[in-house]
Amino acid sequence: MAREKTTFVCAECGASFYRWSGRCPQCHEWDSLEENRAGPGQRTEPGAPAAVTTLGAIGVESGVRVLTGLPEFDRVLGGGILPGSAILLGGDPGVGKSTVLLQALGRLAARAVPCLYVSCEESLEQVKMRAERVGLGDSALAVSAETSLESILGLLAVQTPAVAVVDSIQRVAAGELDSPPGSQRQVSTCATALTEACKRDGCVLFLVGHVTKQGNIAGPRALEHLVDTVLYFESERFQSLRILRAAKNRFGAIDEIGVFEIGSDGLREVGNPSELFLAERDTGASGSVVMPTMEGTRALLVEIQALVGPSNYGTPERKVSGVDYRRFSMLLSVLERRAGLKMGGCDAFVNVAGGIRVYEPAADLPLVLALASSFRDQPFFPDAVSVGEVGLGGEGRAVSRMGERLKEADKLGFARAVIPAGNSGAAERFGGQVHRVRHLGDAFGLFSGER
Ligand code: TYD
Ligand code: MG
Repeated sequence: MAREKTTFVCAECGASFYRWSGRCPQCHEWDSLEENRAGPGQRTEPGAPAAVTTLGAIGVESGVRVLTGLPEFDRVLGGGILPGSAILLGGDPGVGKSTVLLQALGRLAARAVPCLYVSCEESLEQVKMRAERVGLGDSALAVSAETSLESILGLLAVQTPAVAVVDSIQRVAAGELDSPPGSQRQVSTCATALTEACKRDGCVLFLVGHVTKQGNIAGPRALEHLVDTVLYFESERFQSLRILRAAKNRFGAIDEIGVFEIGSDGLREVGNPSELFLAERDTGASGSVVMPTMEGTRALLVEIQALVGPSNYGTPERKVSGVDYRRFSMLLSVLERRAGLKMGGCDAFVNVAGGIRVYEPAADLPLVLALASSFRDQPFFPDAVSVGEVGLGGEGRAVSRMGERLKEADKLGFARAVIPAGNSGAAERFGGQVHRVRHLGDAFGLFSGER
């Protein structure tokens, strides 16, 4: 049975809190908190049976999503932000969390959406300097530099913004707790109070959280269950590339990504990431194969690179970046046993250009082709893409979403596709030539002139 929790309700503003204090943290009225035995959301007397209804009888107001005006950002959120939702934005320090939120809020404020940016780490001057860099120097966006939970709650109650940012939750402190800001207790108390307040008022709340390398201090991980959506902002190996991922989304798809490039004037959206990932590709090099991978609902073309050569130092060296090491080892054995490529004494390195991670089995076929291409020192077709799973018997196996993958390849002008025979149906609308692979042998035939 759920433990009953005492809450305190303010007689003035109706806000409820788990702790008593002499002054209401929300409306600042003195001596207005009264004990209430029912927790927030419980509408029954203690001990009375809970109310029940049927799913069909529940009406849901399908909230109108608010578009930030940064399409890549809106896409990751599932097509805009839902009023009343709480979103955690995590990421390493310096990745650009403050910048992306400032830009999103700046755009909203420009459309007269009431927004509030609470900076807990930086002074207002620092916020202003960043705003000037991203062209928001004259913005009407409301900003505040505050770290006290009570003051922030008061500010939210007074300003009633439609969208609020608290940057970052690790610096907010509730006055009633002895623990320092950033400690587990502080972070979860403050995040709970802020999300409750915003949910009640239908305000969208963005909480910024730093991920530490150790990941063991109170940080975004501990907050994930409190919020509706968890976004991670990551920097990939491309120095300037930033990828926004949804790791949890109660109101949209996960695994969506938004791609940005950071420059001297803030974050710029990358509308066509495939072009960027393939920009520096050396089309004549051996060991390079382009693969259409799926990131959420989006097909992206990425370049898988392999370097294979005789090992000079006893035990061959194998390193991968961006692909699953266990699958890579398995595929090396498949190449050796099923296709007769003597990989045993070879060093082998695999890399996905642009620092993208491709962990789906659909990367098997392009990976095997890249390895074979490097092993033979023969370039693969420069105008081909390849995608497909490879079984232990060396057989090509169909993968999902082939139509969308090939559409992206078509869009970027690729003229050939090397895909499992089982996916032939999906290839009908592909404008170029389709090479069907039943067994690895069919794919390797492509190197030896059967073009
Ligand atoms: P910031 O948004 O402060 O990161 P976070 O809030 O995640 O800690 O971004 C910090 C980095 O971004 C910093 O290294 C400077 C760089 N930056 C740019 O390259 N261009 C810009 O226009 C801005 C505002 C920042
Ligand atoms: Mg910051």
